Amino acid sequence: MLKDKIAVITGTNRGIGLATVEKFAEHHACVWACARQATDTFEKNINELSEKYEAEIHPLYFDVTDTDAVKKAIKTVGDQHKRIDILVNNAGISAEQLFHMTSIKMIEDSMHTNFISQVNLAQMVSRYMMRKKAGSIVNVASVAGMEAEEGGLAYGSSKAAVLFSTQTMALELGKYGIRVNAVSPGFIDTDMWRGRKDDLKEKILRETPLRRQGRPEEVAHTILFLASDMASFITGQNIVVDGGRKSMGG
Ligand code: NAI
Repeated sequence: MLKDKIAVITGTNRGIGLATVEKFAEHHACVWACARQATDTFEKNINELSEKYEAEIHPLYFDVTDTDAVKKAIKTVGDQHKRIDILVNNAGISAEQLFHMTSIKMIEDSMHTNFISQVNLAQMVSRYMMRKKAGSIVNVASVAGMEAEEGGLAYGSSKAAVLFSTQTMALELGKYGIRVNAVSPGFIDTDMWRGRKDDLKEKILRETPLRRQGRPEEVAHTILFLASDMASFITGQNIVVDGGRKSMGG
């Protein structure tokens, strides 16, 4: 599905990002797997996937909130291939706190990592896409950005901003052949849920028609579809991957 495509994916040292690297490698993309810093585990994972799928996977290290580092990293990819076909804006942080207890710092951090970094990366990458008049950007948002939940001010607002910016980018970049879509995961089994309260997890499961937590690769499948030419006439959309919870009013 992605043969010969050059893809940049952020937040790939674990969870949904790592599962997306695997799906892209399986479908023969040339993947630039971005992480904040090199670790033995990350490099081992990348090497194993590269061998398993006979795929080209390059590690790329930068903090998504560091504008200069992002610029340098994207230039590295652009200089090497003279094009970038796919951007998956996946890196993110979670935050949970009731409104009165929410510090401005928590809101700033959520906004910076989850929203502003995505816009910054999309601005830089879309310049390469515009030259080729083609490209696909997939922004990982969240069901938390679609409807208010208690404790969700900082995280939910940042993800709501992702959904809004996805539509704006789709509107403005469509004439250059660039598609921009969002994926909103629900309750997915990754580190992001580590340490969260059991009663919250049980409540979500009760409200989820499929009665289970999602797997990272189930989100990766949706990202793969939107990134690929299979979705060639789809832009400005948000696909919810949550076992049916949101559409049942959960
Ligand atoms: P995770 O915590 O396992 O992965 C987040 C990734 O982002 C990590 O690789 C982390 O190193 C990276 N990251 C965070 N800040 C960074 C920074 N400043 N610079 C570079 N990399 C940074 O969590 P998960 O679940 O895989 O999250 C992936 C995306 O999915 C996030 O955007 C998250 O908000 C979203 N999401 C996850 C849900 C879930 O239930 N797991 C639900 C809804 C959305």
